[in-house]
Amino acid sequence: MTQAADLLDPAERLDLDGLRALQLERLRHSLRHAYENVPFYQESFDKAGVHPDDCRSLSDLPRFPFTTKADLRANYPYGMFAVPQERIRRLHASSGTTGRPTVVGYTENDLSMWADMVARSLRAAGGRPGDIAHIAYGYGLFTGGLGAHYGAERLGCTVIPASGGMTSRQVTLIQDLNPSIIMVTPSYMLTLLDEFERQGVDPRSTSLRVGVFGAEPWTQDMRREIEERFAIDAVDIYGLSEVIGPGVAQECVETKDGLHIWEDHFFPEVVDPITGEVLPEGEQGELVFTSLTKEAMPIVRYRTRDLTRLLPGTARVFRRMEKVTGRSDDMMILRGVNLFPTQIEEIVLRTAGVAPHFQLRLTTSGRMDALTVRAEARPDADAATREAAARSIVQAVKDGIGVSVEAEIVDPGSLERSVGKIRRIVDLRERRD
Ligand code: DLL
Repeated sequence: MTQAADLLDPAERLDLDGLRALQLERLRHSLRHAYENVPFYQESFDKAGVHPDDCRSLSDLPRFPFTTKADLRANYPYGMFAVPQERIRRLHASSGTTGRPTVVGYTENDLSMWADMVARSLRAAGGRPGDIAHIAYGYGLFTGGLGAHYGAERLGCTVIPASGGMTSRQVTLIQDLNPSIIMVTPSYMLTLLDEFERQGVDPRSTSLRVGVFGAEPWTQDMRREIEERFAIDAVDIYGLSEVIGPGVAQECVETKDGLHIWEDHFFPEVVDPITGEVLPEGEQGELVFTSLTKEAMPIVRYRTRDLTRLLPGTARVFRRMEKVTGRSDDMMILRGVNLFPTQIEEIVLRTAGVAPHFQLRLTTSGRMDALTVRAEARPDADAATREAAARSIVQAVKDGIGVSVEAEIVDPGSLERSVGKIRRIVDLRERRD
């Protein structure tokens, strides 16, 4: 089932040849814009011995150098901007949990393109003009709140700018104002679930029809949990501040088969995280983006550190990215075995007697790293169920991932709840340097 053609943007109706031609024209322009207006790009292209004129086809892009988070940090705050400050209408910043934050800027056209992409995303999620959208992504320097907000307005929705936090009031607003769409991190949606239950309100009884969840990795098992508990469709939205914010890629509600990348504006590649070599479609690696139309802060081959695979289009002509497995920075290595929080999420969500709340505690045991999975018991789980759940988690990690961990089933409500992006890993390892 695809959407009625009259609901789609002109770019969504292109055929593959039309799309590739549009991308090439935009890419050539964007590379020139970056080279001519950002000293960093001029230097890095010159050093690599390439010039924007060398880009004659899309397959020439890998000749251009990568851009990393470290490059953005080194040019903090305004060094990556390609237009004079008077043309910048808005700034956002990444959280900066590791080192300096990065600042991103938008011209008026950038803000308009961003709103268009979020509107397109919401439409793909099943949203329509006239829907009421409850936005519980944080408003502020984080791109989630304002990005979702202007996109929902652009689509023609009525927006409830709830932002994150004040959880009991969120439940009241949802009950009183009858939104059909909610936009929020999946982990905060679970916090809302607790609050519905605490207030004795059936979460399946609300007016909500669709949830548009992103800003952190979440699994198919989490999708099932949320869909079941709220009686809604749950779809994935992806984005990052350096590219634009939310609305880089979106899952279509009719297929729920990965996220279509809006590649008329953001050109994707997947590369080997170690060698940087471009990988063929279908192979897992690090996602890399080149902006095709951004004015204030063009980015060329930006390494996201997000791990995924590119797949051909289905409900749209655009390529899809598989649900993100995790960031390379979140990968734990236990006795030589690579492990992502999403793999543990799948296991926890399949374990009887435990709630979908878990935390990963890394400690040092002798010269080795050790991992304890701490998961919350469901309120009705007795001692025997809890013990069985702990054993089952240990066994499933051993069988499925091939490494030994410990599991601890803690009391309901005892793990920290998310109000935005959740922090899964608590690193208590002794420092060795
Ligand atoms: O998280 C933008 C956003 C807001 C996306 C709201 C979706 C919804 P940043 O704070 O710059 O921007 O963080 C970007 O978050 O590189 C991924 O690691 C992660 N991320 C974002 N969306 C997803 C997703 C926003 N759907 C970083 N699945 C990215 C997995 C995601 N990870």
